[in-house]
Amino acid sequence: MLQIDSLVFNAWGRQFFNRASVSLPNPSKVSLVGRNGVGKSTLFKLIKGELQPDSGEISIPKAARIAAVDQEHPATDVTLLETILAADLERATLMAELETAEPERMGDIWMRLIEIDADSAPSRAAEILNGLGFSTEDLDRPMAEFSGGWRMRVALAAALFSEPDLLLLDEPTNYLDLEGALWLEARLERYPHCALIISHDRELLNNSVDFTLHVTEGKLELYTGGYDSFEHQRAEKIRLQSATRAKQDAERAHLQSFVDRFKASAAKAAQAQSRVKRLAKLTPIETTIEAQVSPLV
Ligand SMILES: Nc1ncnc2c1ncn2[C@@H]1O[C@H](COP(=O)(O)OP(=O)(O)OP(=O)(O)O)[C@@H](O)[C@H]1O
Ligand SMILES: [Mg+2]
Repeated sequence: MLQIDSLVFNAWGRQFFNRASVSLPNPSKVSLVGRNGVGKSTLFKLIKGELQPDSGEISIPKAARIAAVDQEHPATDVTLLETILAADLERATLMAELETAEPERMGDIWMRLIEIDADSAPSRAAEILNGLGFSTEDLDRPMAEFSGGWRMRVALAAALFSEPDLLLLDEPTNYLDLEGALWLEARLERYPHCALIISHDRELLNNSVDFTLHVTEGKLELYTGGYDSFEHQRAEKIRLQSATRAKQDAERAHLQSFVDRFKASAAKAAQAQSRVKRLAKLTPIETTIEAQVSPLV
């Protein structure tokens, strides 16, 4: 669903991505983790096309619909329920068309409305809104009556209701209470398409996602499983790297001492020479140890 190839992005005097690549399967729920300021929200802006990469490709199928929740819904005089229903553009367009369509077009419109289960839309919208903490009475209240925090929840509800092919959520639990966060956790777990979620909520990172995508040192590293599994795999990777490096250091020291001892000896000169060559071939193992990936709450 989302394919990133060799992404390079530098801005504001620093490097964010340096030939980063990843491919997200469809469907998949993926959390995006990395230390503060590493460029997670910046990656969302690149995916949305609000920022342009210096080089590399970010590809999403042409027909795919993307939705991101980054600001509260405006304080209009439209009711809460109508606002959410309007987020499903296809349904909204078909319903509007129904008012003026020629009789021969009616059949097609009704057929499509049945296909997308338009009848159940109000109850599906209400279920999402209730999950996010709105009461049944709230459904008929105009948007202008809700505070910014609640309109943020409306933006999230609208995105979930419209079920985009790629859903981008940046710290959704920041504007939810515990109940709302738990509801979202369960909802995301069964989200039918692709969702990429930035969060510091360990429960959500463990319970809702299939993959964890780590932004580190300009790269994107995809791990299978939730946050705990990611930490475990990463610790193991670092342990293996350290062990390989220790082994290599020992070999280097051993070769060097042989070279130092025998470089002046005519009888051993050839052997010393071959060890000099082996030494030169030992490429250093990178150890990538980042103290903390994500300050989890
Ligand atoms: N428009 C901008 N102008 C200048 N600097 C910016 C701009 N946008 C982002 N930055 C800088 O880029 C850095 C990384 O931004 P980004 O928001 O992508 O990090 P993040 O991984 O989402 O961090 P956090 O976990 O804190 O949300 C920030 O520290 C910020 O200083
Ligand atoms: Mg951010």
